[in-house]
Amino acid sequence: MFAMIIEETGGPEVFQYAEIDTPQPGPGQVLIQVACAGVNPADWKNRQGHLAPFRPYVFPYIIGFDAAGVVAAVGEGVTDPRVGDRVFSPTNHGQGGQGSYAQYTLADTDRVARIPDGLDFAQAAALPVAALTAWQGLFDRGGLRGGQRALIHGGSGGLGSFAVQFARWAGARVAATCSTPNVAYLRELGVERVIDYRSEDIAAAVSEWAPRGLDFLMDAVGASTLPAGLDLVRAGGTFVSIPTLVDDGDIPAAAAAAAEKRVNRIFSTMDDTDCAATLETIAGLLVRGEITLPPVREFDLRDVAEVHRGLERGHNRGKMVLRVADL
Ligand SMILES: NC(=O)c1ccc[n+]([C@@H]2O[C@H](COP(=O)([O-])OP(=O)(O)OC[C@H]3O[C@@H](n4cnc5c(N)ncnc54)[C@H](OP(=O)(O)O)[C@@H]3O)[C@@H](O)[C@H]2O)c1
Repeated sequence: MFAMIIEETGGPEVFQYAEIDTPQPGPGQVLIQVACAGVNPADWKNRQGHLAPFRPYVFPYIIGFDAAGVVAAVGEGVTDPRVGDRVFSPTNHGQGGQGSYAQYTLADTDRVARIPDGLDFAQAAALPVAALTAWQGLFDRGGLRGGQRALIHGGSGGLGSFAVQFARWAGARVAATCSTPNVAYLRELGVERVIDYRSEDIAAAVSEWAPRGLDFLMDAVGASTLPAGLDLVRAGGTFVSIPTLVDDGDIPAAAAAAAEKRVNRIFSTMDDTDCAATLETIAGLLVRGEITLPPVREFDLRDVAEVHRGLERGHNRGKMVLRVADL
């Protein structure tokens, strides 16, 4: 198969389009023929070698968590999904497997969801990591409830665009931060109080909007960009940080400070075990129009270096996906 491989960690220039062996599905796995690979900030950090504490880098190495495509083959014991089904998945990359920037990739069936009618491959590839991380941080770990006042710090990126919408869908009142060019975008997504972090003081805006403090805060940007985040949350509230690998501050100290203030402090990393049902729920919300898909920009797989350069600048709106094949 053809794949975008790296032979060493480093800058965007390390990508090479090359031919390597097609993987074969083992027991409980499916082989996905990839139409589109979703792109996440974890990908550039992975390319630079930041995932070394979690996995050995064995070269040639293929980056990319998210895939949407068609089941090309199934391993022993797999009856569902079937060959030919349209599916999307965070693949087995989080477990150390090869990634999705390739013609074919592997995924265990517990993390493979069907693409419903009404969603195309590019749209489905935009979902897994960003939408799952938002969902788990808000609901499975954070326990967000209707009526609560929630601030999403970093509302305009891949994760934030889902988080603000999920929180609204759950009946929460939602504020979110973004830079000036994204203010109108977040208003369109239904955010009640958009805080332009370039021109406004976040603490002042929050204390006006939620005078008794936030019930819920999600930091989807990084610890250095919201150093006084804990002060924004009321006692008994919840403060969820999405670990970034590069800007997480002193996690034990943050947890201790929150315990003292009786704030439920959570560091929520995506768990893709058995995630197919959540992915199908999210896809269902989209096709029923209960949430809208963030803008999805599509690029050719061969343009991945340029896509990574853009992503690394940290001001992406919505999602970017790589077109691998026209299926
Ligand atoms: N641990 C995990 O399991 C996990 C899973 C998913 C994501 N993540 C991490 O979560 C972070 C967000 O992911 P993503 O997919 O949403 O990234 P993304 O699509 O690149 O979006 C990043 C967003 O951050 C915003 N931003 C940058 N500086 C900001 C600031 N000072 N204040 C407020 N917003 C700011 C940008 O908005 P503006 O352009 O408006 O500034 C941009 O929309 C990344 O670090 C990613 O690696 C971790």
